[in-house]
Amino acid sequence: MHFQLSDNQQMLRDTVRQFVEKEAAPTVAHRDEEAIWPTDLVKKMGELGLLGVAVSEEYGGAGLDYVSYAIVIEELSRVDASLGVIASVNNSLVCYGLEKFGTEEQKRELLAPLASGRMLGAFSLSEPGAGSDAAAQKTTAVRDGDSYVINGVKNWVTNGDHADTIILMAMTDPARGHKGITAFLVDTHAPGCSIVKVENKLGIRSAHSCQMAYDNYRLPAWRRLGEEGQGFKIAMTILNAGRIGIAAQAVGIAQGAYEAALNYTRIREQFGRPIHEFQAVGFTLADMATRIKAARLLTYEAAWRKDQGLDYVKDASMAKLFASETAMWTATKAIQLHGSNGYSKEYPVERYFRDAKITEIYEGTSEIQRLVISREITRH
Ligand code: CAA
Repeated sequence: MHFQLSDNQQMLRDTVRQFVEKEAAPTVAHRDEEAIWPTDLVKKMGELGLLGVAVSEEYGGAGLDYVSYAIVIEELSRVDASLGVIASVNNSLVCYGLEKFGTEEQKRELLAPLASGRMLGAFSLSEPGAGSDAAAQKTTAVRDGDSYVINGVKNWVTNGDHADTIILMAMTDPARGHKGITAFLVDTHAPGCSIVKVENKLGIRSAHSCQMAYDNYRLPAWRRLGEEGQGFKIAMTILNAGRIGIAAQAVGIAQGAYEAALNYTRIREQFGRPIHEFQAVGFTLADMATRIKAARLLTYEAAWRKDQGLDYVKDASMAKLFASETAMWTATKAIQLHGSNGYSKEYPVERYFRDAKITEIYEGTSEIQRLVISREITRH
């Protein structure tokens, strides 16, 4: 067992850190305030290979491992959690699913542009009535000759209004419950697929999450991902990997909030000395650093297990559960250490606080992670 990053992983961390500090940090507060989509930064992430980190080079990806992928999402999110989720959705919810379940034709046609940033991807499972109960799909797909006709409404489609391709789950056989769900590779430029609204959110505001409608939307049959009835299994498998990405996003948010708090406690003086000299403040910083380290180790280990071909369902859920709660806890404490300044938009910690919250919700709430973990540990 060794705990050191390889030279390549360390170099990757440095590259991503330089990129976000130089190019994203100057605009992050404004984009958050105005909910501005980061067009140029998404393009640059593509050029740097950050949108297809673990996709094989054969399909236009960077061909790196999942630990490297976790490092990328962590570093993006340390400065800008919106960039973190935009990249995470494209990498793990779309490219990973397409590489694992796609046909050769689908990979040649779609994976290469998605992995290299020439296209952007989104993932669409949630519906108004299907959140934690993901199997309760109402969107339907009916086979008609060489195509499927899709009707329904999807919620919380991150990247939806900028995506070219969406992995979408729909019911092809409602009588079969979760075994009647099928996955599709939607072309958003075809008629019948529209954005109903872009959500006005608490956090990760520079990343857009949309409600989308499908109205007699016709999709050629070659764009079905996997077999009919395999869609729920495909969605769950994709989410297992996605949860490592969200765990990494949470570690990055926690790290950003912690560093902001550490710096502030060095310069802020009360009662004639920097406040980090007070034991209550120092102990809070110690707890932050300890929890973040534990969250990072859980996240990297889940990624490592995936790289080794080991089972990682429980480990990804543990990492996401612990890292997201660590992000929320750390951001809350970071505000507390800033006192009333932490409550002001002049300081970044209120943004970390708002961004942290979603990591306890999307890609499975903390309650769903506990459900997955408890099922896994009692099953054997
Ligand atoms: N990995 C692989 N397969 C899994 C799985 C997993 N983690 N969890 C369940 N399955 C399989 C089961 O083995 C079972 O297969 P068989 O039919 O072959 O036996 C099948 O799926 C049904 O499983 P369950 O009976 O356990 O299904 P359930 O309905 O009781 O519970 C759930 C499933 C775990 C609660 C699931 O619905 C779930 O994960 N819900 C949360 C949904 C979620 O994470 N949504 C996120 C939306 S995407 C998003 O947030 C994107 C974004 O914006 C960034």
